[in-house]
Amino acid sequence: MSDSSEAWHRVATGDELRAAAPVAVTAGSHQVAIFLYDGRLRAISNRCNHRGGPLAEGRLHGEFVMCPWHAWEYSVITGRGPQGYDEEQVPVFSVEERPDGVYVRTPPAMPRHLIPHKRSLLLDEHPKPPGAPVRVLGLSTTGMDDGNPRYSTSDALLDEALSHAAAAGADTQCLRLRELAFRHCEGNYSKAARACTWPCAITERDPADQLTPVYEGLVHWADVVLIATPIRWGNASSLYFKMAERLNCVQNQVTINNRVLIHHKVAAFIITGGQDNIQAVAGSMLTFWSELGFVFPPFPFIAHSRGWDAEDMQNNVKVVKMSEGLREAAHELVARGIATWRMVDATRGSKMEPMERAGRKANPVADSMAMHDG
Ligand code: FES
Repeated sequence: MSDSSEAWHRVATGDELRAAAPVAVTAGSHQVAIFLYDGRLRAISNRCNHRGGPLAEGRLHGEFVMCPWHAWEYSVITGRGPQGYDEEQVPVFSVEERPDGVYVRTPPAMPRHLIPHKRSLLLDEHPKPPGAPVRVLGLSTTGMDDGNPRYSTSDALLDEALSHAAAAGADTQCLRLRELAFRHCEGNYSKAARACTWPCAITERDPADQLTPVYEGLVHWADVVLIATPIRWGNASSLYFKMAERLNCVQNQVTINNRVLIHHKVAAFIITGGQDNIQAVAGSMLTFWSELGFVFPPFPFIAHSRGWDAEDMQNNVKVVKMSEGLREAAHELVARGIATWRMVDATRGSKMEPMERAGRKANPVADSMAMHDG
């Protein structure tokens, strides 16, 4: 039977569906979400128009079901979105309750209607013009009150490295996370691997979210990235982790699509703190940025700490301000980063090109549970 020929499919008994609703069932080749609304069984596609989220797992409020992945909504009666979004529509199926069970008719009585949405610029490649200088991006992750700024040792060394790179002819840019109003990751990955999307669902949904320059800088602009962080209770800063969690969408493209967004890019770190734990902070950063696809120069971080019992932070600032050695270390770090990038860049198109990381192994259990088209 062709997919377009009309057929009624018995899916369960009425009692079973009433007890289980909302619930996903299969009708021919269609995945259908069954809802109980106003005493009647209703059937729409189980696949959300946005990224295919499972609507049967959504929350029903009134006649609308909210997709569990990123909160798009559809009427379980008409399949349409709420007012203002009502041109968006998921397929609606006819349902009949008969003495021997509940039947769903395929193909759907009303088809899917997808509205073309504005395409994110983050999806486009931005090739660097031939002959353009190396691009060095600084990411400052320390927090402070910008209306009443204080001296930051990690920022000072980052500025030192960027000035040195600029003086050597690099194109430089510095992003300070504290100046960007961006939302925390909402953990869509914890719902389903495919619920964590590129571009990030928050970026797509919230025009006020300001993490876009960071995504743009890391994925499209930079050749070399210097990430500067203070040590806060033995870890990188809270702003660093807030950003790192939002970067899960970059790494997740490897996992779900075997698509590596970070190519031929070098990362290096500046880590400073009044107290110790440099090696642990560096280890955590190296792991994370390597999973994004970055490569590292030899000696990929510089760091400063005066140890566990150095609570006199005012002296720590003085030490860093006076340290010619740390300034030189910052210059050398960025020079190593640029030199490493030149080596990596020279392998483009050759057999020496760094290998892409393969996607994770297929998981037969997860694959058998994967949703098909509704
Ligand atoms: S809102 Fe449904 S998949 Fe994004």
